[in-house]
Amino acid sequence: MNKKKDSEESLAAHAAFVSKIEQRTARVGVIGLGYVGLPLALSFAQKGFATTGFDTDPAKVEKLAGGKTYIRHIPESQIAREVEQKRFHPTGDFSQLREMDAVILCVPTPLDAHHEPDLSYIRNTGKAVAAHLAPGQLIVLESTTYPGTTDEVLLPLLEESGLRCLVAPYTVSGNSAEATEGPADDFLLAYSPEREDPGNKDFPRERIPKVVGGVNARSALAAEALYASVFERTVMVSSSRAAEMAKLLENIYRSVNIALVNELKLLSQRMGINIWEVIEAARTKPFGYTAFYPGPGLGGHCIPIDPFYLTWKAREYGFTTRFIELAGEVNSAMPRHVVEALAEALNRRKQCLHGSRILILGVAYKKDVDDLRESPSLEIMELLQKQGARVEYHDPYFPRLHRMRRYDFQLASVDLTPEALSEPEAVIIATDHSSYDYALIVQRARLVIDTRNATRNVKEHREKIVQC
Ligand SMILES: NC(=O)c1ccc[n+]([C@@H]2O[C@H](COP(=O)([O-])OP(=O)(O)OC[C@H]3O[C@@H](n4cnc5c(N)ncnc54)[C@H](O)[C@@H]3O)[C@@H](O)[C@H]2O)c1
Repeated sequence: MNKKKDSEESLAAHAAFVSKIEQRTARVGVIGLGYVGLPLALSFAQKGFATTGFDTDPAKVEKLAGGKTYIRHIPESQIAREVEQKRFHPTGDFSQLREMDAVILCVPTPLDAHHEPDLSYIRNTGKAVAAHLAPGQLIVLESTTYPGTTDEVLLPLLEESGLRCLVAPYTVSGNSAEATEGPADDFLLAYSPEREDPGNKDFPRERIPKVVGGVNARSALAAEALYASVFERTVMVSSSRAAEMAKLLENIYRSVNIALVNELKLLSQRMGINIWEVIEAARTKPFGYTAFYPGPGLGGHCIPIDPFYLTWKAREYGFTTRFIELAGEVNSAMPRHVVEALAEALNRRKQCLHGSRILILGVAYKKDVDDLRESPSLEIMELLQKQGARVEYHDPYFPRLHRMRRYDFQLASVDLTPEALSEPEAVIIATDHSSYDYALIVQRARLVIDTRNATRNVKEHREKIVQC
């Protein structure tokens, strides 16, 4: 009898939640207004939801509340419009969490000094949410992390509020989840990975299918309903752990394939084969091959970091993730390879690295983004300085390099005058920004180390180019 009542209550609560989503009366909170959280909050606001963005950084909150952007590829006009229309409300006041129907966590998940997962941001946010958790709320974690974080780490923190949510298996059929019987939960909890590629205009976030997995069926169904209001397609999996693992599989796949092609690049160089030509030929195969490209090393907040979340978790199961570690080893050796290739090229010209002036083009971790995180350019600059080179840089997205956690160059981007290109002993193309005129760079520079095949269409003075 009680079971029936529980199940009726549960169905009614779910119907009410879905109705709020459909009517756009649900209030959505997004915690962490960074590269992931800010555009996500704006997507919900644009769809008509009253969206509150929470962040612990008062400077960001103030800027966003004033309708200003701090991430170049997120247009100011979009933020200003949503703030003016009162659909997007940035705040540092976490007590407003209590008023939300759904709360999405988009806080950082870095590695610590020992290369191990640093879950402190998730833990702090979990505690902040628990302090204001209201019955019926849906909490979704989006931060990239190892399988088990949602139900082993976040759930107990949220339950410190006194409210309960049971982990219960369910089966998935299409985008519907069938529950095993159980009592209605006080709150709902799910995981949904962020798959956005910032700055990629070919795949706007709403068109990237959204994977969701709940700690139980109702949580999965609620999360599916929430994201279906913004994303064109949702993909439900049978647990929060499967959703967490799906994100890691995607990133490990990239890391391993990039390492493979980086290794083949090193071999091809010794064999006098152009790896870029090889990749172009291989990618004409219409099936069974996806092209990945070599480069100066891995960058960005995801690929160099996320795989090691799984490596760490795997140890608990007495398992060694050999592919991940080998890929990490190969990829992290690439900046040193660039410096060695430069030293050899200078040597052939009877010059040495020590005392040479070297201009780095591009410090962002990939083209056309204003993101420096884990950028291999920075490691290359540090290695060059250690070898006594005089390092300069140019990047249209970074007029100055301020002090960072690991680096402190105190350099300003040089103007790309004819002299700035011709006076240094070498120019390294570390990031292939679209705004660069590569023909002009090759024409002016004395020696060009091209780590991105950016000079592929340059016809003249090719003798100055070293592909690496
Ligand atoms: N950047 C990407 O392209 C990308 C893509 C997919 C997944 N991810 C994952 O998404 C998560 C967030 O990444 P990001 O790039 O948006 O990070 P970010 O550093 O750009 O933004 C994080 C934001 O969270 C805020 N913050 C930190 N602690 C907080 C707290 N306790 N409460 C509220 N706000 C807090 C910070 O001030 C910052 O504004 C990470 O787990 C990352 O791995 C990122």
